[in-house]
Amino acid sequence: MTHILVLHGPNLNLTGRREPEVYGRQTLADVDEAIGDFAAEHDCDVRILQSNHEGALIDALHDAIDWADGAVMNPGAFTHYSYALRDAVAAVPYPVVEVHMSAVAARERFRSRSVIAPVCLGQISGFGLLSYLLGIEAVLMRTEDDEA
Ligand code: DQA
Repeated sequence: MTHILVLHGPNLNLTGRREPEVYGRQTLADVDEAIGDFAAEHDCDVRILQSNHEGALIDALHDAIDWADGAVMNPGAFTHYSYALRDAVAAVPYPVVEVHMSAVAARERFRSRSVIAPVCLGQISGFGLLSYLLGIEAVLMRTEDDEA
């Protein structure tokens, strides 16, 4: 059984109500349900947390050190400036995939830069809730590769 931590950063609790033309009308509960279903189909155990606080996301990454095989994180706007979150990703031994619901490269210029992506396994952007499922798939494929 693969253990995957899923983190949603700031403002993602308002998904479904927040700028629906950008992020869609599905709520975070809908996203989490799809993640849970996908995890069950792929024999993996997910731990999901949303926080608007940088420190809480860092604590969650640290707390999963002896549990997680990988993580999928949507850091929200922290993506673009949080060196503390970047250092936390670099500090943990498991791979982290950065995901975004919107196509960040096609939006405002400041969103094109991620300070976290360079220490991640990769970045997936622009597929709405599917971005999370693709992120989990990437962690699973990487974990299987490592076991082979
Ligand atoms: C986001 C993109 C970020 O630029 C933004 O600050 C978010 C959401 C996304 O999922 O598309 O809060 O991470």
